[in-house]
Amino acid sequence: MVLAAAVFLKFKATSRRSYNLPPGPKPWPVIGNFNLIGALPHRSIHELSKKYGPLMHLRFGSFPVVIGSSVEMAKFFLKTQDILFIERPKTASGKYTTYNYADITWSPYGAYWRQARRICITEVFSARRLASFEHIRADEVRSLVRGLFAAASVPGRAVHLNRDHLSTLSMNVITRMVLGKRFFGDGADAAEGPVSSLDEFKWMLDELLLLNGVLNVGDWIPWLDWMDLQGYVRRMKKVGKMFDAFMEYVLDAHSEQRRRDGEGFVARDMVDVLMQVADDPTLEVQFGRVGVKAFTQDLIAGGTESSSVTVEWALSELLRKPAIFAAATEELDRVIGRGRWVTEKDIPNLPYIEAIVKETMRMHPIVPLLIPRVAREDVVVGGYDIPKGARVLINVWTIGRDPELWDAPEEFSPERFVGSKMDVKGQDFELLPFGSGRRMCPGLNLGLKVIQLSLANLLHGFTWGLPEGMKKEELSMDEVFGLSTTRKCPLEVVIQPKLPEHLYV
Ligand code: HEM
Repeated sequence: MVLAAAVFLKFKATSRRSYNLPPGPKPWPVIGNFNLIGALPHRSIHELSKKYGPLMHLRFGSFPVVIGSSVEMAKFFLKTQDILFIERPKTASGKYTTYNYADITWSPYGAYWRQARRICITEVFSARRLASFEHIRADEVRSLVRGLFAAASVPGRAVHLNRDHLSTLSMNVITRMVLGKRFFGDGADAAEGPVSSLDEFKWMLDELLLLNGVLNVGDWIPWLDWMDLQGYVRRMKKVGKMFDAFMEYVLDAHSEQRRRDGEGFVARDMVDVLMQVADDPTLEVQFGRVGVKAFTQDLIAGGTESSSVTVEWALSELLRKPAIFAAATEELDRVIGRGRWVTEKDIPNLPYIEAIVKETMRMHPIVPLLIPRVAREDVVVGGYDIPKGARVLINVWTIGRDPELWDAPEEFSPERFVGSKMDVKGQDFELLPFGSGRRMCPGLNLGLKVIQLSLANLLHGFTWGLPEGMKKEELSMDEVFGLSTTRKCPLEVVIQPKLPEHLYV
């Protein structure tokens, strides 16, 4: 009896530990504040942060969620106290779609993740490696403009820019760099491996990204997990299996090639590099075949949609602002001239194009709340407590629209970046489309290269308009929230080639 009383008192003492949490709305039992979060969580959170301030506390089901919505808070979470917020939450998507957290994005903080990041920096995304793939990016951009040229042969016909063109470009760039060849579409053996078509693979990727971004009830209210109320876990298991079959096929083909090459083997793509590194017996942590599959899948998932979606947002904004088209065309005509295409080496000489990309990333950061972090300890900031285990979101979307930081924040105006040193590389906390600190996006340089090169060539090679009868004010800018935030209605455009014909063929 005495023992039972002691246990009860101890339980009360610990459960009563009262935190001085940051301001936020009162939560409901069980659901917490889920009732305040709509289909576009970043917009709901933006509205709430206007009311509760730059450090806000919400409750999602059983977990406290702390949201930082200012430059100071972003610096605190991503720079000064980065190490305390470097953990990722355990989610069903990490478990079922990325090999039980064996990838980079969802892997827990520790030696395995640190080693994965080291491999990214020194092997996969090193400047030398990225430079060695420049011809692939150039090739695929040529293929993109060729495809658009063909599509433009019927004057006035509307083209589905992302669905039929940009997404294929990013897919081909990434599959050639990571897997060694175009797996789908022109020049590929469509029936090769367990995925039968480009459309099926695009579906798998969309599904993967969507399921990695959803608010899955079971993640937040663990005792309801088994019911899989929204059906997401069933879908995660299905897409996880489909990716695994594909990855198994890819790794088998690479092993076979290595065996055939014998002593003369040289790594040709990122899977080769990862397999070689995985064989190193001196590695601090062995990551084996599962690790190679998980990292490879991360590279494909992280690298495909991100760039095409950003270019699609950029062109959507430009279609509403013809004066920006004119300024971009003036720069391209002056620096490149109408006799050739833009190359990666030209980009530093195209500050207006760079400014369009930055402005697009300010207004349409494709990961508007970054990928959630977790507090590893109890932490105090500004007199408020952040309890260990709290989920932490960095509200990059609100920071990009803060009227204290930006003049006319709702205006798309690349001019604000012309002559400014502000960049997207994680040093300027006003603009964090790739995050910052130790857990920031490792694919930043690759993503930027693909976006800048494809956008510059699209603007250089074509004149752009909306489908017949559509006014620029009518172009919807509605979004869909997922691991990346995309346009709700795919962008349709009418284009006309503007360079000499022989350049397209
Ligand atoms: C427009 C291009 C891209 C954008 C805007 C973007 C954005 C982001 C953001 C915001 C994060 C989360 C950072 C954080 O938690 O603080 C992230 C993480 C990540 N990104 Fe990207 N990304 C892009 C391209 C790429 C590419 C090309 C790849 C790989 C080929 C990639 C792979 C990853 C991976 C693996 C992570 C997880 C890092 C970790 O948890 O350690 N991303 N990205």
